[in-house]
Amino acid sequence: MSSGDLKESLESIVNLSNNEKQTVLIVDDEENNLQLLKRTLRGAYNILTAHNGIEALEVVKTKGDDISLIVSDQKMPVMEGTEFLKEVNKTNPQIIKILLTGHVDTDIIVSAINDCNLFQYILKPFEPEELKIAVESGIDKYVLASHNKIFYTELRELFYKTIRAISNALDTRDSYTNGHSLRVTLYSMILARELKLDDKYLEDIEIAGLLHDIGKIVIPQNILCKNGKLTDEEFLVMKSHPSKGEKIVINIKKLNKISAWVKTHHEKWDGTGYPDRLKGEEIPLAGRIIALADTYDAMTSTRPYRTALSHETAINEIKRCLGTQFDPKLGELFVSLSDKIDEARKNPEAVYMKYSILGKNIDFKIPSEFMPASQTKV
Ligand SMILES: [Fe+2]
Repeated sequence: MSSGDLKESLESIVNLSNNEKQTVLIVDDEENNLQLLKRTLRGAYNILTAHNGIEALEVVKTKGDDISLIVSDQKMPVMEGTEFLKEVNKTNPQIIKILLTGHVDTDIIVSAINDCNLFQYILKPFEPEELKIAVESGIDKYVLASHNKIFYTELRELFYKTIRAISNALDTRDSYTNGHSLRVTLYSMILARELKLDDKYLEDIEIAGLLHDIGKIVIPQNILCKNGKLTDEEFLVMKSHPSKGEKIVINIKKLNKISAWVKTHHEKWDGTGYPDRLKGEEIPLAGRIIALADTYDAMTSTRPYRTALSHETAINEIKRCLGTQFDPKLGELFVSLSDKIDEARKNPEAVYMKYSILGKNIDFKIPSEFMPASQTKV
């Protein structure tokens, strides 16, 4: 969301809170009834009218986003009230719906509540006050739901941008790993999508990819960026980052599930990885996915002790390690996606936005000093 969008959403909250006149659509085939309804609600709301379901659907089609509530008669020619409201519910589920009916027909009422998401029905004849109260409480519900939607959108954006900011800051601790977390996330998502995992899982993979190395935040800089081989002691410290990462995220409810994935991204299929020497499917699927993505990115990136390997060499190395370091089936799938992976490696930021679930429709700009180094141009 851009700052303009944010301003707009805040303005809409203020407008809703200030009881800006809401729009109500009244649908009734009898002119006298229509006028009576109009008189009852006039003043408090902007009123739109229609004489039958078809006409009313046209109004909803053009002005649906402005309409907060519909009051519809049930018994109308052309299209019954429930039929009309059912159609509205398909295209504009947010609109609150009230049905006016001449008699209690349990089947109609039950179907209206279930199929049309009916807010309330009112028996005819009714007192104007009764209608006013029903419309008022319907509008209250609409305003509350609108607030919730705005807050949810903002909360989601805040979450996404915070995760991206942490991930970027983490990568820039070491100039050699700049852009690493984003690329690992991208390769993981390409692989996960091919496995036809659902959007919720893909979103969790995205978060886990961005944060998989979060434990490195507590690894001393002199070890993290050492220009040469680590001593055994230093390597032990370095190897603690998956467990440290797990501890950092495990108590955050939203991140609890991914903590196990963060912890297992250095485990190996044959049980020689760390920290727990898990074997085969003891390693969570997402941990195995991130391990492949992580290793591929490490190989195709320049490190202090070597220049980047070519894409082809990295893919051959993955093939060589199927069944030992990597889950063989998953690894084969990764190899079969070689072209997509290579394309993503060359232009990670743009391709990432195509795959991102969490960042969908959110504008996120990386400050130039956090831009990935050109180390991946192999
Ligand atoms: Fe790692």
